[in-house]
Amino acid sequence: MIHQLVYYSRNTVPGGDRQMLTNLREIVSVSQRNNSRNGVTGFLIFDKTWFLQILEGERANVTETYNRIARDGRHSSATIVNVQDIASRSFPNWTMGGALRSPEVQEIYLSHGIGGALDPVRMKSAQILQLSLDLQEFEQAKRQGQRIAS
Ligand SMILES: Cc1cc2nc3c(=O)[nH]c(=O)nc-3n(C[C@H](O)[C@H](O)[C@H](O)COP(=O)(O)O)c2cc1C
Repeated sequence: MIHQLVYYSRNTVPGGDRQMLTNLREIVSVSQRNNSRNGVTGFLIFDKTWFLQILEGERANVTETYNRIARDGRHSSATIVNVQDIASRSFPNWTMGGALRSPEVQEIYLSHGIGGALDPVRMKSAQILQLSLDLQEFEQAKRQGQRIAS
């Protein structure tokens, strides 16, 4: 069984688009290093105000990782939306995928009925999961394209 945790939190680091992207890259790169060591996979959505994250792996590892993340000063008010045991990982290929909300993915947000600001307080975990899966697919296709192009 795989333990899966979904939470959201509020970004506390101010800055423009560039700064935001730098922050996200920093978080993702540390996450990839730690998570691969701990057998944790998942996905991180960042829309400048909010973080939405899915963590999956062994229960003890997911719990330890979440507790460490929740203490991070770069965000506040981390709130667990859902925890569940699932048969297999939803994000097996990502020790932590990160998706910054940008015009490029606006269509994906729209297809989930999100035209304006994200409101994670009102989102169900299934919605967060589905949005993450669609963003993951987009990111994967983009990387594939880059590999072919280069
Ligand atoms: C929104 C957010 C998500 C994060 N996600 C992860 C994660 O998935 N895994 C992880 O190890 N650290 C994550 N971090 C970073 C941790 O809070 C912490 O800084 C890091 O794990 C410390 O690693 P170090 O001791 O190797 O420097 C995240 C931080 C933030 C703000």
